[in-house]
Amino acid sequence: MTKPFTLGNEFEDEDPSHLKKSKIISSLKEKFDFENSHLRPPSSKEKGILAKCFGYFAPEQAKELGIYPYFKEVQEIDGCHVVIDGKKAISVATNNYLGLAQEPRVVEAGRDALEKFGIGCTGSRFLNGTFNLHKTLERELSSFLNREDAIVMSTGFQANQGTIACLLGRRDVAFSDRENHASIYEGCSVAPGKTVRYYHNDMDHLEYYLKKYSDVEGKIIITDSVFSMSGDIANLPAIVKLAKDYGASVMVDEAHGLGVLGENGRGIASYYNVEDEIDIYMGTFSKSLGSIGGFISAKSKIIEFIRHKASAFIFTAALPPASVAGVIAGLDIMINEPERISRLRENTAYIKRGFFDMGFQVNNNSIPIVPIKIGEEALTLYMNRLLFDDGIFAGVAVSPVVPHLNAMIRTSYTSVHDQEDLDKVLDSFRRLGTKLGIIPKE
Ligand SMILES: Cc1ncc(COP(=O)(O)O)c(C=O)c1O
Repeated sequence: MTKPFTLGNEFEDEDPSHLKKSKIISSLKEKFDFENSHLRPPSSKEKGILAKCFGYFAPEQAKELGIYPYFKEVQEIDGCHVVIDGKKAISVATNNYLGLAQEPRVVEAGRDALEKFGIGCTGSRFLNGTFNLHKTLERELSSFLNREDAIVMSTGFQANQGTIACLLGRRDVAFSDRENHASIYEGCSVAPGKTVRYYHNDMDHLEYYLKKYSDVEGKIIITDSVFSMSGDIANLPAIVKLAKDYGASVMVDEAHGLGVLGENGRGIASYYNVEDEIDIYMGTFSKSLGSIGGFISAKSKIIEFIRHKASAFIFTAALPPASVAGVIAGLDIMINEPERISRLRENTAYIKRGFFDMGFQVNNNSIPIVPIKIGEEALTLYMNRLLFDDGIFAGVAVSPVVPHLNAMIRTSYTSVHDQEDLDKVLDSFRRLGTKLGIIPKE
């Protein structure tokens, strides 16, 4: 159960917003010193490799204060409405962009597969875990994306990690955007090849590295199409041009592009009309498609190689039948009901306009990820707590996920938020943002 937490009402005064904000921050810091609680040395009794665990107090401290934002137990869910701690809230902490996670036809397809095949595959795709459902989904994905083949894996994380780890050989170099997802980092770090990380979306820096390694034969540029925290879009036209100029392949992670942009929701590569220039298309089922799992789509020879070489695919159990069947049904709905994507875009435009008018900085694109930058960590956690008390369930990103003093409340939207939901979210941010001096009074 979330503990009650209040700073009192002494800040409800006439101070200008920046003064009020700094008073609130110092008062919060007396109670919760985010930075130092992370840096506090291990207690003296503990020694050895586990000492760090016993000296790690940040979660305890935040829980004690009632501003711990993670692992909230969802007791009920329907689209973008949740019940947590017995309390109803509007979720803006979801990647269920098209509302497919609880869509009755998707649930029914999952239920049928559950009854027919049972709860799991009890083994790897490689040996005993490939069911006809997996093959059907692979065919449908290839046809949807106009690619020769596809491979379905158990998570998006594994799709990235496994693919990069087996492709990036000893003599090869990967060029990876610094804001890429952790699974890309992991794939690069376990691979024998070298990885260089160019500044986020900085094409000059990418070119600098491509020049530097122009003698290397095996080069691949890897980028998220939509960056999951900032909601930025990769500059794919420039990336494919540089790839051509320097003889590099291109891998794009469309986790947050699929179902959001492009023709029928095919992603950012389709939006920019550069699909044929992308060598490896990675996607997930855990966002627009409402389920779990990931995939890679590419030329047959590439998929055949990954199928026989990616440890994260071979040495783990296959995606359960109900999840696969749900994705097949969801994909069909996504393609045949384009009004969901249109609705998502309308909602995104509406909410961004609302935040912008209030004075928050927002990305001018159609991506439904809308981070609200607060800056100071304790203030961000406190704001998030007040939002929750107000019936808004949002995500929080603090250091080290984002740089220190760049903390944000990550909000995201779906086609199933209605006007009332969106207005309620805007109203809460307006009231609480003013109360905490984050935005000026109107
Ligand atoms: C950009 C990106 N790539 C990959 C993943 C991993 O996907 P999954 O959660 O389906 O394993 C995520 C999910 O958080 C993501 O945001």
